[in-house]
Amino acid sequence: MPAAPRLKILIPHAAIRRRVRAIARRISLDFRGQPVHLIGILSGACIFLADLARELELEVSIDFMAVASYGRSGKSSGQVRLIQDLGSSIEGLNVIIVEDVLDTGLTLDYLRRTLLARRPKSLRSVVLLDKRSRRLAPEVHPDYAGFEIPDQFVVGYGLDWAGRFRHLRDVCVLLPASRAGRRARSATIP
Ligand code: PRP
Repeated sequence: MPAAPRLKILIPHAAIRRRVRAIARRISLDFRGQPVHLIGILSGACIFLADLARELELEVSIDFMAVASYGRSGKSSGQVRLIQDLGSSIEGLNVIIVEDVLDTGLTLDYLRRTLLARRPKSLRSVVLLDKRSRRLAPEVHPDYAGFEIPDQFVVGYGLDWAGRFRHLRDVCVLLPASRAGRRARSATIP
């Protein structure tokens, strides 16, 4: 029987909170009183978006869309497909795509092309976690990013493993119990 997975804290909640506030300050300065329209990409971005939106000193509206990648071996493939579209038009709006993690960049590349065709006033992106070493679309850069992280499987603060762990306050690395090590800051899976 495989060892039960364990969690090792990679980014504690306090550090996430500080970084989210700093990003929100930067966005608030950049848009200086103009309204922004946040588009959260389901499901991973829901918690980041909720925290970010409440730190912005701007007029904020919110919408969501869902996409999926086909033929993933591990995580990502080249094929991105729209699963759930926005509820309303973004024409003329200052749109900010909100993502939990930027991995190969193929999803954000697809989202940018899809949303630009709908004629927003401006289009930017914010990601909490950037796995830059995994990038397959080198021209894709987030306008705002929280943390660059190594190529490890992470969960928590919106990110899941088979639907689990999205609710965790910290970003954690998922690792087998035998590799957790007694000195690692680790937690038993709830
Ligand atoms: C994650 C993340 C991005 C995408 C990034 O979504 O939220 O949408 O992967 O990967 P890429 O840069 O390689 O394209 P995921 O498919 O895990 O779905 P989820 O948000 O519902 O967990």
